[in-house]
Amino acid sequence: MRSPSGNVLSQLPKKLASLLGCESARLELKWMKESLRPSDHPSTLQKMVERRLQGEPLQYILGTTPFGPLSLLCRPPTLIPRPETEDWTLRLANTTSPKSSRPLSVLDLCTGSGCIPLLLCHLWPPGSTRAFGVDISKQAIKLATDNAARCNIPAHSSADILCNVFVPVLGDLRDTIFLKKLGAPFDVVTANPPYIPEQEYDQLSASVKDYEDLRALLGDLPESPIQNGLSFYHLIARFLAEKGILRNGATVALEVGDRQAEAVENILHCSAGLRHTEIWTDPWGKQRVVLARV
Ligand SMILES: C[S@@+](CC[C@H](N)C(=O)[O-])C[C@H]1O[C@@H](n2cnc3c(N)ncnc32)[C@H](O)[C@@H]1O
Repeated sequence: MRSPSGNVLSQLPKKLASLLGCESARLELKWMKESLRPSDHPSTLQKMVERRLQGEPLQYILGTTPFGPLSLLCRPPTLIPRPETEDWTLRLANTTSPKSSRPLSVLDLCTGSGCIPLLLCHLWPPGSTRAFGVDISKQAIKLATDNAARCNIPAHSSADILCNVFVPVLGDLRDTIFLKKLGAPFDVVTANPPYIPEQEYDQLSASVKDYEDLRALLGDLPESPIQNGLSFYHLIARFLAEKGILRNGATVALEVGDRQAEAVENILHCSAGLRHTEIWTDPWGKQRVVLARV
């Protein structure tokens, strides 16, 4: 006779396949099985599939996601790092060659899981990077701190070992005095801010809206006079325009949403006075990043 869990398990792949298609279901089931530890209860896999059938994102179920060569922890409600963010962060890492003789000061606004500064710290030479990641969410800062430990990126440099440093900081990017005190002038400022306009938020899938933080997605606060998803870019540009924030030769990289690149480029020209800008397209053909050089 088959065990009850064996019986249920034999039906679950079919249900997953009807939800995701055969190939995706096969792959997801394989990753779930690979994530099991010997100490897990026999029903763990069944529970994982049931969560997936309820619409929970796979990365939250597995607890990790790849980001370049890193494997980062994922926990709701902190935003799951996206492949497009991974793509431009790798590209940014390749365009700059920092040296330990003159370490770069990096500020990542809206850091979430810490994915952007952690990948830069991992790829750039030891001792060349001192990064700060700011987020308004306590859960995000806890996750970024756990991810830094997982990636062996310390929050403090030590006298005897040359290393890159990442400091996750709880804070609001609207508090520009606090941001400035972190480590200005900055050589690199990155941000993947919330950028979804309210009318597009309503159309997002339940697997995004039910699990990922509203604050990570919605580009405008309810009281904001503009509701086009661009409020954070205006705030960031005003901060960048302040005296002493950007060092000469600094790079700014801002991820943008669908059809926002030209508007954000314009905001950087007009409000931050950054004239030298370019737009990077992602591997899926979308304009994804506005890059500015000082
Ligand atoms: C789109 S997520 C990006 C997370 C991460 N950088 C990534 O690329 O996966 C935006 C993040 O901005 C944070 N956030 C929202 N409002 C903020 C504010 N006023 N100040 C600082 N962070 C904020 C959210 O908590 C969220 O983690």
